Amino acid sequence: CERQDGRPSKQRLLVVANRLPVSAVRKGEDSWQLEISVGGLVSALLGVKEFDARWIGWAGVNVPDEIGQKALTKALAEKRCIPVFLDEEIVHQYYNGYCNNILWPLFHYLGLPQEDRLATTRSFQSQFDAYKKANQLFAEVVNQHYEEGDFVWCHDYHLMFLPKCLKEYNSNMKVGWFLHTPFPSSEIHRTLPSRSELLRSVLAADLVGFHTYDYARHFVSACTRILGLEGTPEGVEDQGNLTRVAAFPIGIDSDRFIRALELPQVQNHIKELKERFAGRKVMLGVDRLDMIKGIPQKILAFEKFLEENPNWRDKVVLLQIAVPTRTDVPEYQKLTSQVHEIVGRINGRFGTLTAVPIHHLDRSLDFHALCALYAVTDVALVTSLRDGMNLVSYEFVACQASKKGVLILSEFAGAAQSLGAGAILVNPWNITEVAASIGYALNMPADEREKRHQHNFMHVTTHTSQEWAATFVSELNDTIFEAQLRTRQ
Ligand code: G6P
Repeated sequence: CERQDGRPSKQRLLVVANRLPVSAVRKGEDSWQLEISVGGLVSALLGVKEFDARWIGWAGVNVPDEIGQKALTKALAEKRCIPVFLDEEIVHQYYNGYCNNILWPLFHYLGLPQEDRLATTRSFQSQFDAYKKANQLFAEVVNQHYEEGDFVWCHDYHLMFLPKCLKEYNSNMKVGWFLHTPFPSSEIHRTLPSRSELLRSVLAADLVGFHTYDYARHFVSACTRILGLEGTPEGVEDQGNLTRVAAFPIGIDSDRFIRALELPQVQNHIKELKERFAGRKVMLGVDRLDMIKGIPQKILAFEKFLEENPNWRDKVVLLQIAVPTRTDVPEYQKLTSQVHEIVGRINGRFGTLTAVPIHHLDRSLDFHALCALYAVTDVALVTSLRDGMNLVSYEFVACQASKKGVLILSEFAGAAQSLGAGAILVNPWNITEVAASIGYALNMPADEREKRHQHNFMHVTTHTSQEWAATFVSELNDTIFEAQLRTRQ
């Protein structure tokens, strides 16, 4: 594909995800303010620059009126984003309900909702119907913007029904689907009432990708055990049709973080933080306030550490940034109160008139403040109970070239498979073990920190989001080419 000046033009890519990289805040009847969204998916995809990409996703707000929709569509177009408008009821049933109350906990091994079985079963069906309807609405928008030759890359558990809808519009569309969460053991997936329909819809894609080989293996097992299809080293076969299944571990745009550390405003932040916490070691947690992140367990482990190590009480501080998320879902509201209660108790127990052991913030930080915080941290605590990958661990490593701090990392995060050799791996459910690891990390000799850091830094700077996207798209291209060859034979 060539432009008139002879240079090859970039491959067109339609990135379809529930969340756009920017969130919209309404400022007037026809005026909108756009802010960067949070979460691993956005953070990785912002680094993808080598394609002519357009991003299609839910606008994140209810916009019932035409004037508002037109103005928002225009504002988003400048960011190469295309909105999908969903009404409040659909959002409630699809996003709060089926996505975040059913699929999200299930895929993270927290099971299906336990409340009144009958009520759950009834609402389950209406939520699944809304999920399918929402996916159909996404498909309509993709179809409107699709041009022949485009690659369509669908993302995450919100859009498992999308590959099927897209292929119904156009069986020649080149469709990839990537999951940013774990795919659980087939024994977990089989508890889901809509287990088969979802698997079949995903299998309509040409290429299906996961962060780790284990997740890919679980998916193939689910297809063989639940659907009775054949698993092959390449993927899943259904009556001669192959859906390619593979692992594509995500990364970050590490240069963006490394370059930011040189900026004067980041240097100023670093200076302020160093002064503010002089004489104390800084421990850091940065998480969306989500039950999978294991925030209560992390704080309880820190409490145990302080309990057992009185000499450290005035020499260490834990900064926990807990970014509010999915605040309309009751489970998330309960978690917020639970975390506040634990933090309050521990600060009351170990705080003094001049200092508290835990600084807990219920909000996100801007990019520069975050980089500065990563740079001054001695020990980062990533203790997710389950996590698809966890890019906070990557971001921390990218910002640690001078400090060479220690990463304590959950063995249940996908990142444990890539950063495991440099990090201290822990079982986040074992509070005693995490407390002991905190002590080990704080006392670690400089040469061991250096070695561990080098290992992780090398990985993070060579396995970037750019490389991840390029590999996925090139594999999608190869998969389609091979399928065409097979049909010609
Ligand atoms: C995870 C999911 C993403 C999601 C993000 C933020 O990283 O894999 O798909 O966008 O969380 O969650 P939210 O519900 O706010 O989009």
